Amino acid sequence: MNKFKYGVAVACLLVSSSVALADGKLNVVCSTEQSWCDLITSEFEKETGVDVSMIRKSTGETLAQIRAEAKNPKIDIWWGGTGDPHLVAAEEDLTQPSGYDTSKLMGWARGMANISGGKTIGIYAGALGIGYNADLIAEKNIPAPKCWKDLADPVYHGEVQVASPNSSGTAYTELATFVQLFGEDKAFELLGQIGKNVNQYTKSGSAPSKATARGENTISIGFMHDMVKLATSGFPMKIVSPCEGTGYEVGAVSIIKGARNLENAKKWVEFGLRPKTQALAATVNSFQVPSHSESTVPPESPDLASIKLIDYDFATYGSSETRKRLIDRWNKEIKNIAK
Ligand code: F6P
Repeated sequence: MNKFKYGVAVACLLVSSSVALADGKLNVVCSTEQSWCDLITSEFEKETGVDVSMIRKSTGETLAQIRAEAKNPKIDIWWGGTGDPHLVAAEEDLTQPSGYDTSKLMGWARGMANISGGKTIGIYAGALGIGYNADLIAEKNIPAPKCWKDLADPVYHGEVQVASPNSSGTAYTELATFVQLFGEDKAFELLGQIGKNVNQYTKSGSAPSKATARGENTISIGFMHDMVKLATSGFPMKIVSPCEGTGYEVGAVSIIKGARNLENAKKWVEFGLRPKTQALAATVNSFQVPSHSESTVPPESPDLASIKLIDYDFATYGSSETRKRLIDRWNKEIKNIAK
């Protein structure tokens, strides 16, 4: 082979191997609990042979990254996290339809696809609640809270922990829930009163419940399924469904617009929504209600039918304008009140 032909042959080999490599990759940002992110990643790799690069980030943080990378997207898949920021990403044209047939999903999961033109799909649901450490409540001789309004009682000064809605989808769900339950001005009044009892606004939504379970904090606001995970692990964690009623999340999956590994991203969506895959979540104690109608709901999952749920308005609270307005107001009026 002369030098020229040899060069061409080497170049062809390099091109085809780089294509093969590119075909075998997927970049995922995962906003569920780390253990579920790790398990679904390794199961997907096992089945498909695709090399997945995955990091865990809270929902609001992920939205910020996707916005920042809009012109040069590095992520292919955004897996999990509360649905409102996924809807915001869809509205801002940062994500794209996956083409997944949603007909076998629960109505609340199809709802996300309907609002977003198929750009995001519901993968699980979970209700918001209050958690407390039963040992600390007894030790401190303070009453166990029953309602959201109880959390404003000065008896809980420094005892309450919740995440920041800037970074956490859980905390944004709380903010939007209060606004829907009480009306916007009254909601901010109550958040301000509760703020006087808050010792820290954390980055991740499940962190306050973890601190509560470990006895580093007395009362948390968060998703009930995250509290169940801690209670079933043996911590003295009690779960309260607030007397006024509560909001819920529809966790979602989205493919990023301009994804470099689009075919693998579509494979991930199909894989993640299978009843068999959804059933794996409970094996790592992730107890959200799965979205596929043929999935079995883990017995540990909080029973959404017996919780006083509000009719959460995802179209409104998942809109870019509403989310920005509420978070800006929270930053101005609430953020700096914490003890
Ligand atoms: O995985 C636990 C979980 O509570 C999910 O149900 C939820 O979508 C996600 O965490 C929200 O996390 P964050 O509040 O940190 O954005």
